[in-house]
Amino acid sequence: MPASNLPKLSDHDFRRLQQMMQEASGIVMAEQKRTLMAGRLMCRLRSLELTSYGDYLRLLEDPQQQEERRKVIDLLTTNETYFFREPQHFQVLGDWLAQQRGPLKLWSAASSSGEEAYSMAMTACERAKGDWSIFASDLSRRVLDQARQGVYKLEQAQKFPPGWLERHCLRGICDSDGLFRVAQPLRQRVSFAEVNLTRPLRQELGQFDVIFLRNVLIYFAADEKRAIVTRLVERLRPGGLLFIGHAESLHGLNLPLRTVRPSVFERL
Ligand SMILES: C[S@@+](CC[C@H](N)C(=O)[O-])C[C@H]1O[C@@H](n2cnc3c(N)ncnc32)[C@H](O)[C@@H]1O
Repeated sequence: MPASNLPKLSDHDFRRLQQMMQEASGIVMAEQKRTLMAGRLMCRLRSLELTSYGDYLRLLEDPQQQEERRKVIDLLTTNETYFFREPQHFQVLGDWLAQQRGPLKLWSAASSSGEEAYSMAMTACERAKGDWSIFASDLSRRVLDQARQGVYKLEQAQKFPPGWLERHCLRGICDSDGLFRVAQPLRQRVSFAEVNLTRPLRQELGQFDVIFLRNVLIYFAADEKRAIVTRLVERLRPGGLLFIGHAESLHGLNLPLRTVRPSVFERL
C-alpha cells in the first residue's frame, strides 16, 4: 500500500489504543510512539482487511477478541534484549552465587526472548556451588515461545565469555547452520511462563534468591512502577539480590533494600 493510502491514526484512536495498552500491560505509550504504533498495527489491519484503525478498535473492544488483544500486546511491547547485557551484573551475580549454599531460585522477571535467563543460567552453571533453577517470565507470548526454543543466531553469542558457547550450547549444522541452541542440561533448569507484572503475583511462585527486573520499569508510570517493585521485593528473601537496568532507578520508593552497587540491591 503506498504511504499516501495508509490509514491515519486519529488523536481519538491513538488515545483509545494508549489506554487499552496501559490497562493491559501498564505500558505508557508516549505521543512520540504514535507512528511506531500505527506502523506495527498496520499488519493486523491488512490481515483482517480493515481500512481504518477505528474499525480495528471496534473489533478489539469485542469481549470475544481476546486473542486479537494479545496480538496488540505482542506487537507493541519493546522486546530488545541480548546475552550478557550489562555484563557487570553477571560478574556480581557469579561472585554472589559462588558464596551461597543452594538450592537457589532465580527469576528473570521480564525475560523477553530468553537471552537474560540463559545468561543467568550459564553464570549459575559456572559459579553456583549447589542446586539452582531459573524461573523466567514475560507478558508477551510471542517472545516466550521463542525463549522456550532456546535457538539463537551465532552472531548473538559475541558477548559470551570465552569458551561458554562451546560449553553450554550446541552449534547448528545443515539447515541450522549459523544458529545455536542452548544445551538441554541448561534448558531443563529454566522454565518460562506468562506473568503480567501489573497484576498480583500468584502465591505459588514462592520466594526467590535473585530477581532480575531489568529494562522494563522505564515503560511504567510512577505509581505502577512503585507497585510492581514493591510486589517483587516481597518475593525476594532477606539477603537476596534485586537487579534493575542501569538506566533505571528506585529512588524515592523507600523499600527494604540496601544498595550493593548502582542498580544492584540486597533485600533487608
Ligand atoms: C526491553 S525488554 C527487557 C528484556 C530483558 N530484561 C533485558 O534487560 O534485556 C522488556 C520486556 O518487558 C516485557 N513487559 C512489558 N510490560 C510487561 C508487564 N506488564 N509484565 C511483564 N512483562 C512486561 C516486554 O514484553 C519485554 O519483553
